[in-house]
Amino acid sequence: MSERVLGVVMNGVTGRMGYRQHLVRSVLAINAGGGLPLADGERVRLRPVLVGRSERKLADLAARHDIADWTTDLSAALADPANQIYFDAQVTSARVPAVTAAIEAGKHVYVEKPSAESYADAMALAKAADAAGVRHGVVQDKLFLPGLLKLRRLIEGGFFGRILSVRGEFGYWVFEGDWQDAQRPSWNYRTADGGGIVLDMFPHWHYVLEHLFGRVEAVTARAVTHVPERWDERGERYDATADDAAYGIFELAGGIVAQINSSWTTRVFRDELVEFHVDGTEGSAVAGLRRCRFQHRAGTPKPVWNPDLPATEPFRDQWQEVPDNAEFDNGFKAQWELFLRHVLEDGPFPHDLASGARGVALAEAGLRSSAEGRRIVLEETR
Ligand SMILES: NC(=O)c1ccc[n+]([C@@H]2O[C@H](COP(=O)([O-])OP(=O)(O)OC[C@H]3O[C@@H](n4cnc5c(N)ncnc54)[C@H](O)[C@@H]3O)[C@@H](O)[C@H]2O)c1
Repeated sequence: MSERVLGVVMNGVTGRMGYRQHLVRSVLAINAGGGLPLADGERVRLRPVLVGRSERKLADLAARHDIADWTTDLSAALADPANQIYFDAQVTSARVPAVTAAIEAGKHVYVEKPSAESYADAMALAKAADAAGVRHGVVQDKLFLPGLLKLRRLIEGGFFGRILSVRGEFGYWVFEGDWQDAQRPSWNYRTADGGGIVLDMFPHWHYVLEHLFGRVEAVTARAVTHVPERWDERGERYDATADDAAYGIFELAGGIVAQINSSWTTRVFRDELVEFHVDGTEGSAVAGLRRCRFQHRAGTPKPVWNPDLPATEPFRDQWQEVPDNAEFDNGFKAQWELFLRHVLEDGPFPHDLASGARGVALAEAGLRSSAEGRRIVLEETR
């Protein structure tokens, strides 16, 4: 069996996402499994080239995982023709110049979401990549989670009948950082550094809605900063300028209404950190990260409103579990494999930079809706 080695420049691998999900759980995991098998029988191994700002951190990381190549010089990594793919998981504000340089160097590009801080920049990246003839993609990991794969199975099997609405609940308490360390990086809470829950989460909601239910046509949102002061990684107090909760209504093609709460200032009384409740004429389902439960119209109870009596129906027990019926790999790894097949054997990949840009457009429209107190209609783009 023949084997090929593909150089992948990975920028931002000292960060949370870049390290755990992309380097360890995806790229190194693909190699540990013997490489990616292609349709023609060839196996492709990945040669990560770590790029970052700190020599010490890169050297430590490379040593820990026995990785030969690392550098603080992005241009040098991009100049090597053996490196065909550029991956970016830097802070969002650093993304555009680095991805632009990679496109100019003729690399295929795969980037974390949001692909840029503004729709104009995100769309410019998509157009530049098309013009350069390189393959491009944006991380849309939630679509590859078991819970959402099961939800997709229900949709594609016609379970819901006509889908009426989607209600999403996402969030958990992010500690302020004074008496307990914050569990997310502080840049997330500063607008000037590309932070904010709308810019972080609306791109996720956009691809979930677009790929599972239909085009997002309009948004009405209220973004707020509930906790105005926080403490950073060094224990220093700072003003939290970015929104830490957003309450949004998304109108979809076909009349479906989605309503999603996103919050870093709520406490969890749910089974999972995100849940989507979908109602259709024939049945309903609740999908989380891993599980998906459903209730068919034939099993739907008929509650009668009477506040004088305690609830008699065990409502949660009246739902059934969608079985796994498959083995689910890590969602980030599954999408990496799809992107590699897109680059290497022209496989389908709908998660391109244009799709990513539409996600940024939704975030921008959400912030505008909140600032101006009105509903924003989204322009149709490719
Ligand atoms: N797909 C997802 O579910 C998901 C989840 C969280 C974050 N993200 C995205 O991943 C990206 C990274 O987020 P993270 O949570 O890993 O952040 P992080 O702060 O943990 O990591 C940021 C990385 O960017 C590098 N960097 C480059 N320039 C920088 C600068 N000027 N200031 C600070 N760091 C700089 C850091 O060295 C580090 O490697 C963001 O774009 C974020 O939106 C995606």
